Amino acid sequence: MNGRNLVLIGFMGTGKSSVGRLCAQRLGYTFRDSDAVIEEHIGCAIPQFFTEQGEEAFRRIEHEVITELAAASGLVIATGGGAVMNENNVAALRSTGCVVLLTATPIVILRRVGNTRSRPLLASASDPLARIKELLAAREPFYTSAAHIQVNTSLMTREVAADKIVELYREFEV
Ligand code: S3P
Repeated sequence: MNGRNLVLIGFMGTGKSSVGRLCAQRLGYTFRDSDAVIEEHIGCAIPQFFTEQGEEAFRRIEHEVITELAAASGLVIATGGGAVMNENNVAALRSTGCVVLLTATPIVILRRVGNTRSRPLLASASDPLARIKELLAAREPFYTSAAHIQVNTSLMTREVAADKIVELYREFEV
């Protein structure tokens, strides 16, 4: 163990949760998905919370959860796609973790996301692909500056992506 958490950031559909679970198995770490922890705190599904309380309220809870997870050790942490838009989240995650950005092309993201109605930021879009491209363009600088390492998962199975990430993580030193 290199003493740091392994933190996966990136847009929805890039594989953070599915690949993160496999990375945790390979490393013998505990897997935590920040969205799942948020749902434990709020007691309902994230889309419902977005509708009833709004995005700002969601981002406040997300910040509390990220701070709590970053303070622990021996974790693989999959973050929500918007978590690194908050610089305090980035600072907390980078201070204790090796931050790996997962990327994928907009088409691959759309295919993996499947039903866009379950994704609050895509649900109302008449053209989900255009919305994905727009959000990606706005977020790209935040993603790249938050990351220590990047892996494009577009052409990888989750197993291959996990192997690659674990290899890069093991080589990583600050
Ligand atoms: C969000 C992504 C979601 C979830 C919330 C907001 C975003 O997580 O945190 O719906 O802002 O991109 P995933 O990236 O795990 O889908």
